[in-house]
Amino acid sequence: MTDDLRIDSLEGVGPVTTRKLSDAGVHSIMDLIVRGPVEIAEITGMDKDMAEKTVNKARKHLVEGGQLAKDFVSAAEIYKHRQSIGKITTGTNCLDTLFDGGLETQALTEVYGEFGCGKTQFAHTMSVMVQKPKEEGGLAGSVLYIDTENTFRPERIVSIAKAHGMDPERVLDRIIVARAYNSAHQVLILEEAGTVIKENDVKLIVADSAVGLFRSEYLGRGTLSARQQKLNHFVHLLSRIAETYNCAAIATNQVMASPDIFFGDPTRPIGGNVVAHTSTYRIYFKKSGKKRIARMVDSPHHPEEEVIFALGEAGVIDPEEADKKGAKKAAKKPASKKADEAPAAPAAAPATEAKDPPTGTGTAGAKPGAKGAAAPDDADPIEG
Ligand SMILES: Nc1ncnc2c1ncn2[C@@H]1O[C@H](COP(=O)(O)OP(=O)(O)O)[C@@H](O)[C@H]1O
Ligand SMILES: [Mg+2]
Repeated sequence: MTDDLRIDSLEGVGPVTTRKLSDAGVHSIMDLIVRGPVEIAEITGMDKDMAEKTVNKARKHLVEGGQLAKDFVSAAEIYKHRQSIGKITTGTNCLDTLFDGGLETQALTEVYGEFGCGKTQFAHTMSVMVQKPKEEGGLAGSVLYIDTENTFRPERIVSIAKAHGMDPERVLDRIIVARAYNSAHQVLILEEAGTVIKENDVKLIVADSAVGLFRSEYLGRGTLSARQQKLNHFVHLLSRIAETYNCAAIATNQVMASPDIFFGDPTRPIGGNVVAHTSTYRIYFKKSGKKRIARMVDSPHHPEEEVIFALGEAGVIDPEEADKKGAKKAAKKPASKKADEAPAAPAAAPATEAKDPPTGTGTAGAKPGAKGAAAPDDADPIEG
């Protein structure tokens, strides 16, 4: 770490305070800003005024170094700055169009949708694409992948990397996976992430799912405000890290598909509003037969539009690619549907949908089929 980013380079911060901060995962001036004055006061026992002063000093320091924007800037300066924001290609034309070029750094992008709509596949794909060199639409950066549902699959990374002509070993090496076991652990991982981000040149942070653990741990009405408060803390942290460290951040959020359960717009993540308010971009994924629909919702500058994409070996793919592959398969094996059903996997999967042959990649707790053969993924109830 360069000397001018060290906490003890700030006036008024002595060794005792530095030690307390370090114990709480605050190692640099950037971390001070990410955590903010209220938390810094709690950690160090400083009074609020002093903590505010310290964080403001940290901010000033970074502004002077050109790492953070000044408090008052002209629109022209903001425009210029926005031109310099990194974008990560999704590896597809359709989603790149939706994102207006790609996934942005210094922003939190929420991806929400029902079970099986492709949130995790998208997160895997972006974990590969961010590693592409800049000339090819990536940021040559690495990934911090916070996995809360145990659905991270290195095998998928290998397939996606190969499909994009990249060395799978190298790609795997540059994804740092943090498995979160409970919501407090999930928060802790992020609080301590600063050093990992800096040392590994992380350009993408994934929280898949951002919401699930909070939802399952805080059940019932009485706990709703506590849950929202904690979740709020997590997503704000994520968003501030993205800004301060110039990374892209993805937060996934699983929502119910059944429109009859909730009032209002079925595409709104109920209980996930905290994420919605904090994120810069919100993308809604929806199943449409074998294809998927992605919609940009509430963006400050994108039109509200929809595109069709598909899922394949290469992760998220353009729908034409899926059609091409489908055609090839059909040519090889006429009446492929029947053929899939009959001899396929004698011991296996209790009648998941025939239209969706088991891929073997084992996505998130594939419980629906087990409960009732007829239950489609969509019926999978989510807690909360
Ligand atoms: N290797 C693969 N090739 C093609 N499609 C795949 C592959 N692996 C998973 N999928 C597709 O991804 C879907 C699951 O998507 P996923 O991202 O896990 O959903 P979620 O939104 O719940 O995270 C499966 O239904 C399957 O259609
Ligand atoms: Mg998932």
